[in-house]
Amino acid sequence: MELHVANHPLVSHKLSVLRNKDTPSPVFRALTSELVTLLAYEATRQIRVEDHEIITPVQKTVGKKLAKPRPVVVPILRAGLGMLEGMVALLPSAEVGFLGMVRDEETLQPSVYAERLPENLADRQCFVLDPMLATGGSLLQAITFLADKGASDITAVCLLGAPEGVKAVEEGTTGLRVTIVLGALDEKLNERGFIVPGLGDAGDRLYGTVG
Ligand code: PRP
Repeated sequence: MELHVANHPLVSHKLSVLRNKDTPSPVFRALTSELVTLLAYEATRQIRVEDHEIITPVQKTVGKKLAKPRPVVVPILRAGLGMLEGMVALLPSAEVGFLGMVRDEETLQPSVYAERLPENLADRQCFVLDPMLATGGSLLQAITFLADKGASDITAVCLLGAPEGVKAVEEGTTGLRVTIVLGALDEKLNERGFIVPGLGDAGDRLYGTVG
């Protein structure tokens, strides 16, 4: 597994605004989108391209275009949905699949409640979007889901991660080609499984609480 933690002052600045408990949902949503576009630049560094002949106003030359099959972007509902727009801004031709997962607040165990993904992901580059990598249970289950459908190259884009979650994903994905791109690697998890210092519950801050 490869880990990239963004090292860019704009990422740190925007993340600090997200961390602030007084930042309201509309600002939180707008900044999430901007942050994802910045992280997507790093996350797509290994995206497959192929040669493509073009004619400039001056002469013929060989340019690049995204290779087929198209990459697949998979936001993890609910909070990952807030990252979709920022990602497809950079990858407009990507296909989008959805995975709905929720973490039990007591046991911290994730479960899948919705799935809409291409049946066969063989040879597809997949980009999983989830703002928070806490215990790593959700991301690990998502990666396993995609790998079972044939995906062999999976990149996760997360705003924040905890060392515990990074370790769990690393240990659980041996043999798979997995990359994690983080806006920041925080200190630790607290006893409720929240990232510290973190930003709270990303789903609630994007969309409000669900009863
Ligand atoms: C949060 C978050 C991740 C998961 C991270 O989702 O968006 O999906 O928890 O935790 P983990 O690394 O310990 O598995 P949540 O269950 O709150 O659902 P939501 O996105 O619908 O708010």
